[in-house]
Amino acid sequence: MSKKIVFSGIQPSGVPALGNYIGAMLNFKALQDEYNCLYCVVDLHAITVRRAPELFGDHVRRLFALYIAAGLDPEKNTIFVQSHVPEHSQLAWLLNCYTYVGELGRMTQFKDKSRKNEDNINAGLYTYPVLMAADVLLYGAHLVPIGDDQKQHMELCRDIAIRFNKIYGDVLVVPEIMIPKIGARIMKLQDPLHKMDKSESENLNNSIFLLDEPDIVMAKMKKAVTDSDALVKYDTENKPGVSNLLTIYSRLTKISIQDAEREFEGKNYGFFKNAVGEAVVETLRPIQDEYKRLRADDAALDVLMKKGAEKARAIAAKVMDETSKAIGFI
Ligand code: TRP
Repeated sequence: MSKKIVFSGIQPSGVPALGNYIGAMLNFKALQDEYNCLYCVVDLHAITVRRAPELFGDHVRRLFALYIAAGLDPEKNTIFVQSHVPEHSQLAWLLNCYTYVGELGRMTQFKDKSRKNEDNINAGLYTYPVLMAADVLLYGAHLVPIGDDQKQHMELCRDIAIRFNKIYGDVLVVPEIMIPKIGARIMKLQDPLHKMDKSESENLNNSIFLLDEPDIVMAKMKKAVTDSDALVKYDTENKPGVSNLLTIYSRLTKISIQDAEREFEGKNYGFFKNAVGEAVVETLRPIQDEYKRLRADDAALDVLMKKGAEKARAIAAKVMDETSKAIGFI
């Protein structure tokens, strides 16, 4: 039996944060042997917000290189850049015609982002989930690992596929949503009620970025918000800061939350934060080394990118063709 297909993507905006690593990349890595995985740098999604053209290319290469540096094997997986496969835009248009404005208007991310970008509420921001649906449906993906903030978009993707199939027969694969139980949401270090973000601009101490130097990591960890109990215990409701640090520690060291609680019993927060900081530094070290190696030769990196796009396109072209035929295009 052939392997099931996994698709996921990350936007090339800002330097990926520890939240992206734990919530997405670690999970991607765990899937790469069992599934046929496609991991995409979703640059088309990124232009819903204005980007400086002279930096954009570097940000795309950076994320592409970080996927590989984080342990995703470009031979085993299909790692590629969204805009290199024009079928994404093409299928997105078709799917726009099978999506209702009422559905798009209900998307909480659209409402949030419109509030934040009042001067640029463009149509792309609105139809963003349709492009996301196209990404997934273009490869017949069975499984889509995402953070829980993308759940509503993926539910819409399923609805669009089901609607399309109702009209035309079983053309599109209806994907399953996969949300990791622990670590799906790494929170901001100084505001543990909100998700850690790679586009953090207000307070850089909220996010640890994958390219942060060790002393920066340790300093940010030291400033992380905890509480006044002096008790290392997992309790997201009453102790969101400590719980967040425990999640980070547990995911990076593969020690269970319970064992970690035991390990830090009777220890003060300074000791605890230091241990979490060291776990982060040790995790980032090999990633940063490999990243530097890859970025020392962008020409070689671009060859990998091109190969990834060719692999992706071979599948995408087929699904695009079947979808067009189903609609009746000649
Ligand atoms: N919208 C996702 C995010 O911001 C990124 C994304 C784009 C994606 N296309 C996708 C994720 C397809 C999973 C599948 O996190």
